[in-house]
Amino acid sequence: MRKILAILIILQLLSVNMKAQEWVVPDDRKGRLSTFPFDDNTRSSGQKIYNLNCMSCHGTPGKSNYLNLVPPPGDPATDKIQHNSDGEMFYKVQSGRGQMPSFRSVLTSDELWQVVSYIRSFNKSYKQQFRAVISSSAYPGATINMTLALNEPDSTFILTAWADRETGRVPVTDAGVRIFIHRTFGHQAVDEEKITDKTGKAVFKIPLKLNGDSLGNVTVSARFVDEDTFGTASKDTVLAAGIRTYPVSLVKERAMWNKASKAPLWIMLSYILGVLIAWSFIIIVLLKIRDIYITGKYIESAESEKQNN
Ligand code: HEC
Repeated sequence: MRKILAILIILQLLSVNMKAQEWVVPDDRKGRLSTFPFDDNTRSSGQKIYNLNCMSCHGTPGKSNYLNLVPPPGDPATDKIQHNSDGEMFYKVQSGRGQMPSFRSVLTSDELWQVVSYIRSFNKSYKQQFRAVISSSAYPGATINMTLALNEPDSTFILTAWADRETGRVPVTDAGVRIFIHRTFGHQAVDEEKITDKTGKAVFKIPLKLNGDSLGNVTVSARFVDEDTFGTASKDTVLAAGIRTYPVSLVKERAMWNKASKAPLWIMLSYILGVLIAWSFIIIVLLKIRDIYITGKYIESAESEKQNN
């Protein structure tokens, strides 16, 4: 009886484990499509994003050299990942699960689609379907757009969103929006989520110490929080909002890894002195050994002479 019970419990645990392996994507997300066609440009941007954010775990596509995690990340070139619809792949990368991180606040929608486009380049039988127009359930039939501007005196970013319909242009109001600064690894959120006002505008405070490139430029991207209602409209803009930062030379100042010319004289002298002392000890020891050897030889010959006599 006990044995049967134990077997039943083990079977139950196994089946729970099997279920946990299945990653279910909500039905309304499965059919989601990219709004732009995949081409060489999207694939090469996708490859850059992949190499920075995904390769450490998923390895080089086609080489099956992914990390040994549980459950395994899998090789993007294989059916394990290719069997996903575009919408499923997008959802999984956006949401993450377990050891697979969520990229929701790291990558923009466009960047997520670029990665999908790169992953799809390893599937010969794949044919892309895409949504030509950004459709919005709040503004049916309209194309939604946004712009970002810098308001230097107030140190704010101003986002303006509007919808173009055949009947004319209207502001997109009451929409949650967020903006992000592009960084080498992912994006840095600026301020909190804002809601567009009745003119379609939202104002974001620029962080005090925002580092830009050597010209003070930062790349800012804006998007709707509720992308299902407003579509995946997003805007990348370069604005001179940051503090100028210059790449630091690692060999400019005196440092461990620097060239000898940066070393002060006293370090050079004491180093040379140390080496000389060490070598003189070695030489003294060698000379002593030689002395012992010669003395030994002398005693040997003296003794054999004695015996001969
Ligand atoms: C820290 C390691 C790690 C990183 C980084 C990572 N992944 Fe994953 N990924 C995983 C693991 C582990 C799983 C399996 C998760 C599961 O099944 O619960 C996974 C699953 C997936 C899946 C679903 C596979 C399936 O079976 O349907 C996709 C798609 C995916 N990753 C794509 C990406 C992309 C694209 C990136 C980069 C933007 C990325 N991953 C970055 C570890 C990682």
